[in-house]
Amino acid sequence: MNLQFPNGFSWGAATSGPQSEGRFNKKHANVFDHWFEVEPESFHNQVGPDVASNFYNSYKEDIKLMKEVGLNSVRTSIQWTRLINDFETATLNQDGVDFYNNVIDELLANDIKPFINLHHFDLPVELYDKYGGWESKHVVDLFVKFAEQCFKLFGDRVSEWFTHNEPMVVVDGQYLYQFHYPKVVDGKKAVQVAFNLQLASSKAVAKFKEVNTNPDGRIGIILNLTPSYPASDDPADQKAANFANLWFNQIFLDPSILGEYPAELVEILENDGVLFEATKEELAIIKENTIDILGVNFYHPHRVKQPDVSPDSLRFNWMPVKYFDNYDMPGRRMNIDRGWEIYPKALYDIAINVKENYGNIAWFVAENGMGVSNEELFQDETGVVQDDYRINFIKEHLTELHKGIEEGSNCIGYHLWTPIDCWSWSNAYKNRYGFIANNIHTQVKTIKKSGHWFKGVADNNTLEI
Ligand code: GAL
Repeated sequence: MNLQFPNGFSWGAATSGPQSEGRFNKKHANVFDHWFEVEPESFHNQVGPDVASNFYNSYKEDIKLMKEVGLNSVRTSIQWTRLINDFETATLNQDGVDFYNNVIDELLANDIKPFINLHHFDLPVELYDKYGGWESKHVVDLFVKFAEQCFKLFGDRVSEWFTHNEPMVVVDGQYLYQFHYPKVVDGKKAVQVAFNLQLASSKAVAKFKEVNTNPDGRIGIILNLTPSYPASDDPADQKAANFANLWFNQIFLDPSILGEYPAELVEILENDGVLFEATKEELAIIKENTIDILGVNFYHPHRVKQPDVSPDSLRFNWMPVKYFDNYDMPGRRMNIDRGWEIYPKALYDIAINVKENYGNIAWFVAENGMGVSNEELFQDETGVVQDDYRINFIKEHLTELHKGIEEGSNCIGYHLWTPIDCWSWSNAYKNRYGFIANNIHTQVKTIKKSGHWFKGVADNNTLEI
């Protein structure tokens, strides 16, 4: 059977500046650069972001490979720490400007549409040291200055813009569960940071509307939407899932698309004494500056059950997990190697949720993919990774996505994470996700079986199942 996708569908892949470029010629350090400098043992095999996949030096060859894989769109991000010399005044670093101009021009010369994101976990560390990073509304305004420079420099050629990638991961990783530097555990700060990140996004949207002159230009945000499924029909499990959805998904989805926070979430945070500080003017900015397009990262579902201990238990720090426990569903299908459940139907559920509850806004799968460690075990004698498991994973997800599109969901594209195996934060190069393998010792890049397969899908705009 053949599944036909809408005309003009974006067949792409996503990466980010800090995960692909390497630190070459970069004036400033972001929080991950700094974390690796001070605590290299926190990174898998002590591999840091210094070289990554060497995109800074090899972007031309890399883009050529992306073209060979059939991609007609690619997402990456502009590093604040590369483009800007002085964060207060947002003066430009000429080498950074030249680099991003070259990358954008090279993509376009290869008929690949650039999707450009502005913040991908890569806050300049000096803004953390000086102001507490996203805890500070001054940093929000500095981000908007950086964004303005990007819109003005590249907006003539870039029409798809995004403010943040997975802002919730900054909240969770940096302020709750200690998987991002500087591993603070502080529920109240976490909530404020979530608000400030939203404010930064909405203010950047406002700035975009003010300065954009590209008639095709539009702007959005990229969220990791992890549908939270209740363990059972028990109302207590349903309640737990409802909170998890509010906390993980709606906290950015609602203000970004509908212009307002869900009243239920605000009430819970207020009762718990951790509601963010926001002025009337700030709430008005959020209300008036909703996005044009939504990017959705989806890897695995989230299953939850009622908490084992009462939410009223004595605790010294507010934690969202007081309202739910994670649930390991018996019989779930896993990518055991990565520890993630495989549940393609969630993509259909997301498609319908966006259609029914978010005005059927234009959206796309901004990341989906399969992390596999020791992938070299699957190399054949010619050196090509025979990743049939990835092909099947993509097929299954595209099939569910297609069903959502058939039912009217306004999905405009699918981006795999990632074009070329890249550096993945503290997991470094442990898990590989790309269409193109990267030998990190030699930087030799080889298209995997999935990459050759994807070209057929993209060229024909059709999935054969
Ligand atoms: C996402 C993130 C990416 C990449 C991916 C796979 O959450 O946006 O930067 O790291 O996970 O690890």
